[in-house]
Amino acid sequence: MVWIGALTQIPQERPRILVVDDEKFIRDVLADFLGMEGYAVRTAEDGTAALAELTGSHYDLIISDLKMPRMGGIELLEAIGHAAPNALTVIMTGFGTVETAIDAMKRGAYDYILKPFKVEEVMHVVQRGLEKQRLAAENLRLREALSLYKVSEAIAASLSLDEVLTTLGDTALDEIHGDLVSTWLDDGEGGYFERQRLVPKRGLKFRGPESVVDYGQFDAASFIAHFSSEQLMLEHAGRLERVFSHQPDMPPQSLLAVPMRIKGKLIGWITIASFTKTKRFDEGQRKMLSIVVSRATAAIENARLYEDLRATFRQTIEGLAKAIDKMDRYTAGHSDRVAHYATYLAVRLGLPPDMVEVVRQSALMHDIGKIGCVMNLNKPGKLTHDEYDVFKKHPGFGRDILDPIKFLHPLIPGVHLHHERWDGRGYPLGLKGADIPIIARIISVADTYDAMTSDRAYRRALPHEVAVSEIERCSASQFDPDVAGSFTEGLDMFREEEMARGKRVPE
Ligand SMILES: [Fe+2]
Repeated sequence: MVWIGALTQIPQERPRILVVDDEKFIRDVLADFLGMEGYAVRTAEDGTAALAELTGSHYDLIISDLKMPRMGGIELLEAIGHAAPNALTVIMTGFGTVETAIDAMKRGAYDYILKPFKVEEVMHVVQRGLEKQRLAAENLRLREALSLYKVSEAIAASLSLDEVLTTLGDTALDEIHGDLVSTWLDDGEGGYFERQRLVPKRGLKFRGPESVVDYGQFDAASFIAHFSSEQLMLEHAGRLERVFSHQPDMPPQSLLAVPMRIKGKLIGWITIASFTKTKRFDEGQRKMLSIVVSRATAAIENARLYEDLRATFRQTIEGLAKAIDKMDRYTAGHSDRVAHYATYLAVRLGLPPDMVEVVRQSALMHDIGKIGCVMNLNKPGKLTHDEYDVFKKHPGFGRDILDPIKFLHPLIPGVHLHHERWDGRGYPLGLKGADIPIIARIISVADTYDAMTSDRAYRRALPHEVAVSEIERCSASQFDPDVAGSFTEGLDMFREEEMARGKRVPE
């Protein structure tokens, strides 16, 4: 939360006021009094001079006469709307032109002062205006800080690279009010960067139909070169051509780019562009984006580490599954097939995706305990009574093998309990009905179907139909009736899909 404090404590500068009047006496009086009140004051003798001042510097408030040579107050007011949209304007006018002053207020002036004025009266209007402006700015900063906090929380909580990039892109569009966001990331193969996300803001009108808008092509090399010496990029129209290798239909007005670095190494950057004439990014938005990007960078690193970990996990399990199948030439491919059937069944039963993945992995590992059975699994004929006693220990051995490996713990229920029976006559615990975890009930059906439809040392594979009617016959005794029913009901369609994909299915 420290950063919220840091965000709101932007150092307060003296408010800047521009006094515009063709009468030198008035300019001097106002400049003196406002200066004594602690404001930073500059003066201009007409609208044209005022406009030149406004394009070069920032002003909080402008006090302008209505009638001036060259550019008058109303005309200046219109121009201020573009040049300094956040500044307040106070109009000074003689008694005869009150109606014009009211017209000025309709056009966006904050207030008006009648000439001749008392100095206290001017001070009062100025103070009131600036106070209103300060409150509005504070309100905006608080709102920004709040949404920033929410975004940061969402980013920090995510372990998905795609989610992080989506949140980052949405934030840039919605909170920074950019028109176009482009996020770049290294591809992990040494310095090559690719565009990950390009989000044109909805409703942005380019010339011609929106579908054929050409947003140009950013030039990665110029960003890399820039970030080698600079921390970020905040530039406005006229200096932006160099960052495009292919120029867009409309010239960008403002561009903000922030690098993402991990331990000093550039891993990517985000670029926000504004194509809207009146929309230039400012210092506050730069700070805001920097904060979100630093959060996002940490989240991207986490997401990548997590992805690596998941890949290692998958490889470990697949390696172990191969080791199991190698022990017994008759069960070659058994673990893979059981995992395949179990996954089909878990999806059919409507399990959530992360649960389906646990089912798949548990099914791959279901017979890992056979590693602990010191016996010849390849011998022809059925197992002797003693051999069967050893064989029945494999679910327990499986649990013992997985137990010291913490990240494999979610697989223990499926591995340990896949030989339990719905009627309670299974092993190793003799659990009954819904006391048996759903993962184990699923693997039990998938395992039995594959065992029946594969060759064994002591018999040939059973035909598919026979295996199905056997599963139906054992529903509610050996198998959970819902699980067995769901398996057999969807099996014809599953087999057709498998064949369409060129896979072999039991005959
Ligand atoms: Fe088994």
